Amino acid sequence: MPKLELVRRIDGEARILEIQVLGGTSLLSAARSAGLPVARACGERTLCGRCAMRVIEGEEALSPESDGERWAKRRNRVDPEERLSCCSQVHGDARVTATYW
Ligand code: FES
Repeated sequence: MPKLELVRRIDGEARILEIQVLGGTSLLSAARSAGLPVARACGERTLCGRCAMRVIEGEEALSPESDGERWAKRRNRVDPEERLSCCSQVHGDARVTATYW
């Protein structure tokens, strides 16, 4: 099973929460199952852009960016380097963070 490292900032220090996920699990579901909040306002329909996460390592371990994800990122002015966690599936080891963790 892929290993996912979720990096949070607590009192200015990076803290890593490591979990194992089933291949194909979305980043959003994985983070929520680990107890971390994920912003979202569209019912995970790749519309709002709120669920963006930054991939620190393992971009290649995620599903490729779809046209719909690119559209939602442009529309919502999401940093092109970030991924929308509701439509990014984990297929290998990765390390991610979110601005609000
Ligand atoms: S939850 Fe809205 S784009 Fe991901």
